[in-house]
Amino acid sequence: MATMKSLIGLINKIQRACTVLGDHGGEGMSLWEALPTVAVVGGQSSGKSSVLESVVGRDFLPRGSGIVTRRPLVLQLHKTDEGTTEYAEFLHAPRKKFTDFGRLIESFMELTAETYEIQKKARLGLINIILFPAAVRKEIEDETDRITGKSKQISNKPIQLSIYSPNVVNLTLIDLPGLTKVAVEGQPDSIVQDIENMVRSYVEKPNCIILAISPANQDIATSDAIKLAREVDPTGERTFGVATKLDIMDKGTDCLDVLEGRSYRLQHPWVGIVNRSQADINKRVDMIAARRKEREYFETSPEYGHLASRMGSEYLAKLLSQHLETVIRQKIPSIVALINKSIDEVNAELDRIGRPIAVDSGAQLYTILELCRAFDRVFKEHLD
Ligand code: GDP
Ligand code: NA
Ligand code: MG
Repeated sequence: MATMKSLIGLINKIQRACTVLGDHGGEGMSLWEALPTVAVVGGQSSGKSSVLESVVGRDFLPRGSGIVTRRPLVLQLHKTDEGTTEYAEFLHAPRKKFTDFGRLIESFMELTAETYEIQKKARLGLINIILFPAAVRKEIEDETDRITGKSKQISNKPIQLSIYSPNVVNLTLIDLPGLTKVAVEGQPDSIVQDIENMVRSYVEKPNCIILAISPANQDIATSDAIKLAREVDPTGERTFGVATKLDIMDKGTDCLDVLEGRSYRLQHPWVGIVNRSQADINKRVDMIAARRKEREYFETSPEYGHLASRMGSEYLAKLLSQHLETVIRQKIPSIVALINKSIDEVNAELDRIGRPIAVDSGAQLYTILELCRAFDRVFKEHLD
């Protein structure tokens, strides 16, 4: 188990390395595509952002009615040691650390060595400390606007965000714009198809694990998420059905046929979820209270009580983590092959521009090469 944990941490590092390779313009992106990710897919207001936040255990995503998510958000969760300070970091602004730091130093008990280091760096002006999570939400919004303008346009260019925390499981998640049926004021007519195409471009990849978010208070047969998931993953081997809004189904109806796998059966079991309602959000019910409420809901539910241990956000996060480990274990040989291919490509490019070269592109290539070699070594160890 401990080994697999570090392996998933490594996968996250590799994804970052591949972003470097991709930016550099080589064929490194294929490496990124070889790794599993988890994408949240569904109609607008189906509960995608809420589910994603629950899996992470933190409130930080822009939420609201209408198209709020207009660029894909690639979110990497890195599990850190107990007692370390939680922080978030964007790939486009690596010197800014978003932390809970302000809150932490209010209680001196929690001033750890790491907190102190971060504080020292901030004083020296080496990094900017910004309070998480409200600032993270704002940065996602600002960075969305930087590419799309303050319009209702969408962009394929992802925003990359990492969260380092002792309170998460290692996962890479992708939040995608909600599937819609009609364009609204200020949007081109093509937007419905544009969003579907963008979402499909992520979920059609064989390495993408799909969280198909389907509100239980609507007919699951017409769920946009299930429709798209069926299309790109007909066998259902990489689709997890997530039924949200169980708490607001019509009186006298329940979701048992779906949750017990009698209708819309997928290879993996469906997970029922109770997120915060809009009233809860308005009352600022926090994540911990929301999870307790969700657990209580299932444990005391006349319909779902017998399924309680296999329901809820925490169970979904656990299920996902286990599935990722299995998938990654199967992929190690092909990852090693791809890394070796990248090493060859970078070597060829270094030969072409003539080595040794100390500055700019040459230096960057050497860094990439070193990264690839380091990853190659580590993966070979895991093969034995
Ligand atoms: P998204 O547009 O798919 O990202 O959906 P959001 O997560 O922003 O949720 C949309 C609205 O539905 C918000 O007002 C949420 O409070 C509400 N909502 C989401 N999930 C649930 C749920 O399980 N139960 C209830 N009662 N409301 C929910
Ligand atoms: Na919404
Ligand atoms: Mg959303």
